[in-house]
Amino acid sequence: MVAARARSHRAADCAHRSELSDNAAVMDPELRAAAEAATGFMPPEEGLALHDAACGAPHGPFVEIGSYCGKSSVYLGAAARQRGTVLFAVDHHRGSEENQPGWEHHDPGVVDPDVGRIDTLPFFRRTIHDAGLEDVVVAVVGESTTVAAHWGRPCGLVFIDGGHGPEPAHADYEAWAPHVAGGGLLLIHDVFPDPADGGRPPYEIYCRALASGAFREVGATGSLRVLERTGPGC
Ligand SMILES: C[S@@+](CC[C@H](N)C(=O)[O-])C[C@H]1O[C@@H](n2cnc3c(N)ncnc32)[C@H](O)[C@@H]1O
Repeated sequence: MVAARARSHRAADCAHRSELSDNAAVMDPELRAAAEAATGFMPPEEGLALHDAACGAPHGPFVEIGSYCGKSSVYLGAAARQRGTVLFAVDHHRGSEENQPGWEHHDPGVVDPDVGRIDTLPFFRRTIHDAGLEDVVVAVVGESTTVAAHWGRPCGLVFIDGGHGPEPAHADYEAWAPHVAGGGLLLIHDVFPDPADGGRPPYEIYCRALASGAFREVGATGSLRVLERTGPGC
């Protein structure tokens, strides 16, 4: 995780390939500036690739697992507006294991002192408000797998960037991959084929998706992978 984040922020590592479009979708400059200014873990090159892929997603709602303070949500929300759909941004806002005290990605500034726990929801709301995206970005506050268990509609896009440990990453894959519509996109962040670059679970679920025969890879930028549903199952 630590190495993954450090590495994913280096522009030199952001090799880009995509089958989705020859011309990258142009992101509204104000929204791009808002995304880049927001607190979070999405490097600009990968954020633009996220936006670009989302602009090519088929009809249906977008779902993001792991919003933190709303950085990736702005990239996806901008695309949702362009596509005439909405983004459901799922997060319990208590932080992942790697955000907790004692870990490198802990930010004491996002701890609610009264509760004594991380609470990124106010920061998320402020980011989305300031970006002017409240009409297209809907916060869903809760455990990812609980939300997935009650989800009833095929998604044009699912973006997985929640817990990066083995249990939460595989649980997110199992809970949400079935909700990707035919022709829809499954995006996974922090995929590092070389273990020296970062943690394994996002890479493992990326491999699971490809091995299932239900998805094919259509884009890669830095540690972001874009998969398209080509058949049933997962
Ligand atoms: C790596 S951060 C997301 C970074 C964000 N996408 C960005 O662009 O900055 C992971 C987020 O996933 C959330 N999370 C982790 N496990 C979760 C779970 N099981 N259900 C809901 N949210 C979860 C954490 O609260 C945290 O905000």
